[in-house]
Amino acid sequence: MQNSLEIVVLAAGQGKRMGSEWPKVLQPLAGQPLLSHVLRTARALDPASIHVVVGHRADQIKQHYANDNLNWVQQDQQLGTGHAVQCAMDQISPDSRVLVLYGDTPMVVQTDLEYLLATPADQVALLSARLPDPGRYGRIVRDGHDSVIGIVEFADADDAQRAICEVNTGILAAPAAVLAQGLDSLSSNNAANEYYLTDVIAWSVASGTPVNGVVCVGTDAVLGANDRRELAALERVYQRMQADQLMQQGVHLIDPSRVDIRGNVSTGSDVFIDANVLMQGSVSLGHGCKIGFGAVLIDCELGANTEVLPYSVLEGVVTAGDCSIGPFARLRPGTRLGRDTKVGNFVETKKAVLGDGSKASHLSYLGDSSIGQRVNIGAGTITCNYDGVNKHQTVIEDDVFVGSDSQLVAPVKIGAGATIGAGSTVTKDAPAHQLTISRARQRSIDNWSKPSKKK
Ligand code: UD1
Ligand code: CA
Repeated sequence: MQNSLEIVVLAAGQGKRMGSEWPKVLQPLAGQPLLSHVLRTARALDPASIHVVVGHRADQIKQHYANDNLNWVQQDQQLGTGHAVQCAMDQISPDSRVLVLYGDTPMVVQTDLEYLLATPADQVALLSARLPDPGRYGRIVRDGHDSVIGIVEFADADDAQRAICEVNTGILAAPAAVLAQGLDSLSSNNAANEYYLTDVIAWSVASGTPVNGVVCVGTDAVLGANDRRELAALERVYQRMQADQLMQQGVHLIDPSRVDIRGNVSTGSDVFIDANVLMQGSVSLGHGCKIGFGAVLIDCELGANTEVLPYSVLEGVVTAGDCSIGPFARLRPGTRLGRDTKVGNFVETKKAVLGDGSKASHLSYLGDSSIGQRVNIGAGTITCNYDGVNKHQTVIEDDVFVGSDSQLVAPVKIGAGATIGAGSTVTKDAPAHQLTISRARQRSIDNWSKPSKKK
């Protein structure tokens, strides 16, 4: 029988170098806390349990994941990564296999971990990376036969060791019983006065458990975020990876370095995305969609051939297809656009349904509105949906023409085929197929003269 897998995620550190009130592992990468990325990868391995070691601002972290199935381990004092794992050991079954992940190393790839776990379960497996510029990472020391014999932390390394380009990702797998013994052997006699998890490697080699050093395929898996600069660099790497995935799906990105995805994007064929577009939450773009420069899409489902013109902000929008939106449109949650609709510049919508072929081309507010098919909403039309206390519904039936600068005071209904004269304030239902007009009658005064300046 295979030993069950238990994952320990280290997240107790303060992350002083981040200069933040927040615990480091809650700092966002692509809109999600660093820790969430690690947990997503951890879950993909289908472990028997996930233990998260917390200490600094533990309550804040636990609260964030209140609905997740995680086992919390308290590390009151942050005495080092080795000590952190040790805190979890009494909650781990002695015949399981333990995989250690770091909460501040979010780019670790599932396939690298699977490869690492392909090491015989009775050995220690260590994930490393080869970096042209190894920075301040721990260095992997190998002997003349290329076998791993230990890890030296940067602060403890001499010049020759610092010249080593193979670095520790921080990720390792080991039989629980071996790991427990190794952790017991640690001392804090080093530059940081900490119990280093990394010292388990040399102990393991010395005490006869083979260590299999697995070099990960790319170099991103090792990238951690200890300060704001590293976090910003990580964000760009992550965004670029997502942009590459989109391009692999056939999306035409005008500039893969100028797109931000904070969530999931699914696309049909021949989608075009201009520069500086932000997509957040769950976004789906049907075949032939075109997203203009600087657009923001949050939780949207855009049907085929929907065109979003520059600088439009859409949240919670569903379109049927062949729609044109913007430039400078603001579509808020509950907006549903039928086929072949147009919502033009400076139009705001909220809980508004537009039927097929309807248009609101300029300068309007449409809130809590149900609008039929082939309706024309003139420039400056406002649905007055709020009486100061409650919201009310506006219903506009098929083939209505609403003249410019009209106010529709809800609750109100405009019957099919009606025309509302420009500049009307409509407070009562307008009958179908009639002209309803409420503005003052126009008159001209013939013997009127302009006032002249007093002498
Ligand atoms: C660690 C490794 C280093 C490796 C690098 C990869 C050690 C001693 N060094 O260094 O070899 O190259 O990661 O990113 O392991 N943590 C706790 N409790 C503690 C201390 C840390 O939970 O007492 C957590 C931190 O919150 C963090 C993770 O462990 O998520 C790593 O700690 P950090 O201090 O960032 O280690 P590095 O100096 O980056
Ligand atoms: Ca780190």
